Formats: sequence, C-alpha cells, structure tokens
Amino acid sequence: MDKDEQFCSAWSGENPRRSEPETRQPDAPASFAASRAGQNPADASRPPSLYNPLVIAIANQKGGVAKTTTTASLGGALTTYGKEVLLVDLDPQANLTLALGRDPGRVRGSITDVLFHSASLLSVSRETSVPGLDLVPANAGMALAERFLPVRKDYETILRRTITDELRPFASEAAPGSKPAGSSFEKNFPVIEYNYIILDCPPFLGAVTLNALVAADLLILPTQPEFFSAHALRTMMTTIRQVRQNQNPKLIFRVLITLLDKRNRIHRQIHDQIYKTFGEGVFQTIIEVDTKLRESAIEGKPIMFHKAQSRGALQYDALAQEIMRYVW
Ligand SMILES: Nc1ncnc2c1ncn2[C@@H]1O[C@H](COP(=O)(O)OP(=O)(O)OP(=O)(O)O)[C@@H](O)[C@H]1O
Ligand SMILES: [Mg+2]
Repeated sequence: MDKDEQFCSAWSGENPRRSEPETRQPDAPASFAASRAGQNPADASRPPSLYNPLVIAIANQKGGVAKTTTTASLGGALTTYGKEVLLVDLDPQANLTLALGRDPGRVRGSITDVLFHSASLLSVSRETSVPGLDLVPANAGMALAERFLPVRKDYETILRRTITDELRPFASEAAPGSKPAGSSFEKNFPVIEYNYIILDCPPFLGAVTLNALVAADLLILPTQPEFFSAHALRTMMTTIRQVRQNQNPKLIFRVLITLLDKRNRIHRQIHDQIYKTFGEGVFQTIIEVDTKLRESAIEGKPIMFHKAQSRGALQYDALAQEIMRYVW
C-alpha cells in the first residue's frame, strides 16, 4: 500500500466532522445563506445587502493548489453574470497581480498600503481588462508583512475593518466606529457596490491569511486530491476552529477539489475520501486539469476571457453558478 492509499484508509478514522461537531456551520448548501442571515433559506425576500459584498477568502497553506487560478477564474466568471468583483492579492509572490497583466514591480498603490498605511482599498484598486473586475495588487512590500503586521494593534482585524468601513457601510454588523447608514459618508464617498470581494491568500498560515479569514464570510479551500494537499486540510480545520472561536464565529468553508486528473486512480480515491469526510462541505463543482488555465495566466486574463469554451472556463463558470445559488 503506498502513501496515498494509506492516507485514504487512515483518514476515514479521523473525520473532522465527527470530532468537531460543535464548531461546524450547517452543512446543507441551502442553509449557507440562512446561517448568515438567520432566515429561512426558502425565503426569497432575504435582503441581499447582508451579503453585499460577499467576502470570499481563498486559502490553503499548501502551495500550488490553484488558489490564485481560482481567484482570477471565479472573479472573471462572476463578472459574466453582471457582478462587480474586487480581487485582492495578499501574496508577496504577487501571482494574481501578474495573472491579471500587471507588473508588481511597477504598481504604485498596493495592498501593503492598506495594511500598513491605512490606505483605502479603492485608492489602490485598479481596473483590469475585464469590465467589472477590479484588482488590489500586491508588490514586494508584502514580503515584510508577516514580520511587521503582528506589531500593529488589532492587526487581525485590519482587513475586516477596512472592508466594513469602506465597502459595507450599511452592513448590520458594521464594526464599532464605522459609518452608520444614512450618514454623510455615502454622499461624500463614492462607494462602489461590489457584489464580491475575493482574497487570494499566500501559501502559509500567518498574519496575512489570518486577516483574510477574519474578514471572510466564505472560505474556499482549493485542494488537489493528493496526499500532501488533502493532509493540509487538517491544519486548515484547526485554524478555522480557532478563527471561529476567537474572531469570526460565522466563517463558513467549502472545499474545492482542483487539478483533478480523473485517469489517476489515487486522485479518484482521495477525491472520494474528501467527499466522504466533508459531505456537503465540498463544492459539487470540480476543477480538472486543463492546460488552458496555465495559458490564461500568461495571457494576463481570466480563463473565460481567454478560452471561453475550454473545460477550465466551463468548470469555473459552474463554480460561479454554484456560489450564486447559495448566496442570491
Ligand atoms: N486546473 C488546472 N489545470 C492545469 N493547471 C492548473 C490548474 N489550476 C492551476 N494550474 C496551474 O498550477 C500552478 C499553480 O496554480 P496557482 O498559482 O493558482 O496555485 P496557488 O495555490 O495559488 O499557488 P501558491 O501556493 O504558490 O500561491 C500554476 O502554474 C497554474 O497555472
Ligand atoms: Mg497563489
């Protein structure tokens, strides 16, 4: 029995669902929105503003599992439904910035200014070549974030406070000190009404990823069906539990299987095991291997604006639809 097979058989004995029932959010997709809104999921009159914008963190401490590809592709797919989307590059590697055609060495404002100099997200955001898709770029300054961010007061909540104050001024859970509805804030500040903010996290669990998890409504965990990647989910579960306990009790997560090669027996086995373990905590949409996704990063465009009929484009479109079904 090789390592991957050992993992498959061992993991079923360590089902995080069974061992941590008190920390899990409701599982059924229909209850995704209701768990946040406190309403019956069937209630079509649920005010969408509670989710406006929906903040999605895309994180996994494991490198190379398609976090950045998912951020760009999902963001691009959502714009094809008329959604306004802001992508935020939180990674010192600045791969998202590159994948959207920007040179990180030449960007003026970046996420570093937001985290360290109290700049607003809008002041450093840029339009991309895709209408409705804006980007807050990263640059090399983010390499210092892990060292200097924890020195700042209440550093875990910097991103959440910025989003709430600037882009969610009318949210019911507005942070103390944020501008209340009906204030002169809306008259003086040109609020862009994003429907989604998607945060692309670096491949490690540090101060920056913590900021994203504290700010997020939904955490997407891209996971390649391989031993190390699936194993990293256990650490992520521990982190999710801590974040729920300490800063963000309403954080919901979904596992997204990425880079699946259906011909690979081990991939099929680990895929099945992930479904058995997480049930409806896994997106129905699966992202298979598609080299067109690599090309689209080189082209500097999300896949559906590079090869709209490719498998990758269709699968990320299905993911966008699945998320929109949950949320509004
Ligand atoms: N479905 C796919 N099919 C083929 N290649 C893919 C797919 N998804 C991502 N890739 C490629 O895999 C590599 C890693 O993807 P990506 O950069 O999105 O991962 P990541 O999790 O963001 O990595 P990091 O942890 O370094 O930030 C990239 O070259 C990307 O183009
Ligand atoms: Mg990345």
